[in-house]
Amino acid sequence: MTESRVVLITGAGGGLGRAFAEGFAAQGDRVVVADIDGPGAERTVEVLLGRGAQALAVTVDVTSADSVRAMVDSLIAHFGRLDVVVNNAAIYATLTRTPFTDIDPTEWDRVMGVNAKGTWLVSAAAFPHLTSPGGRIINIASATVMSGSPLWMHYVASKAAVIGMTRVMAREVGAAGVTVNAIAPGFTLTEASLGLLEDAETYGVDRGAIKRAGQPDDIVGAALFLASDQAGYLTGQTIVVDGGKQFL
Ligand SMILES: NC(=O)c1ccc[n+]([C@@H]2O[C@H](COP(=O)([O-])OP(=O)(O)OC[C@H]3O[C@@H](n4cnc5c(N)ncnc54)[C@H](OP(=O)(O)O)[C@@H]3O)[C@@H](O)[C@H]2O)c1
Repeated sequence: MTESRVVLITGAGGGLGRAFAEGFAAQGDRVVVADIDGPGAERTVEVLLGRGAQALAVTVDVTSADSVRAMVDSLIAHFGRLDVVVNNAAIYATLTRTPFTDIDPTEWDRVMGVNAKGTWLVSAAAFPHLTSPGGRIINIASATVMSGSPLWMHYVASKAAVIGMTRVMAREVGAAGVTVNAIAPGFTLTEASLGLLEDAETYGVDRGAIKRAGQPDDIVGAALFLASDQAGYLTGQTIVVDGGKQFL
């Protein structure tokens, strides 16, 4: 019998990250739930264990190289392998929406630190341990890069960096049989986004080809595909999952 895969998901203490964790666990993968919110990570793991899955909670700050290295060391010590990395941790709904002329430089650095640098640090620490060939890195970007959402320039810049890094990493690790892709979700209903807008449930629905709100499972499906054997020849790409609100 082949050993089940090990999937690391950052920012999996809630929201989309928890949905990814549930999706991978449901197909038999072992899941490492990493978050700066340690109790949130533990709650996700409790849910997974209750469903008979194997899961490990790790508290991590993705902006710290030491913390990231400790996370990778502990998951390798626990499970002995690593197959898929989902870089999902981000500063998102807690951001202040501000004209670009007024963005607080400290907030700019905070967003870049988690969303861009964090994606780099986790990928760099994980890559030497990734299954080769067959490993997968999946970066969570945002459709705001395509739409140029006003008042979010720090966030949009951080996610544009993620899309650029996805292309570079794909070229650098392709020879090892590892793919690197990004998913750019449109507005998706999570605890975080529901707290962002009063009309979250209907926001943007009329602009989409598909006339309903985005749900976490819509994004999970794209991640499961990118992590599958069927996606082995697909790399360096960004898949927009937004119900057809915009086309590249
Ligand atoms: N929901 C949407 O509409 C939407 C649309 C496009 C893209 N996205 C992207 O999808 C991903 C998940 O979004 P979400 O809606 O589920 O938001 P979320 O709940 O805020 O998820 C982000 C997670 O990352 C964690 N995190 C923050 N800083 C961290 C750090 N330094 N180290 C480790 N973990 C850290 C957060 O913990 P704390 O809660 O403790 O800060 C949180 O658990 C993000 O990358 C977001 O940018 C979301």
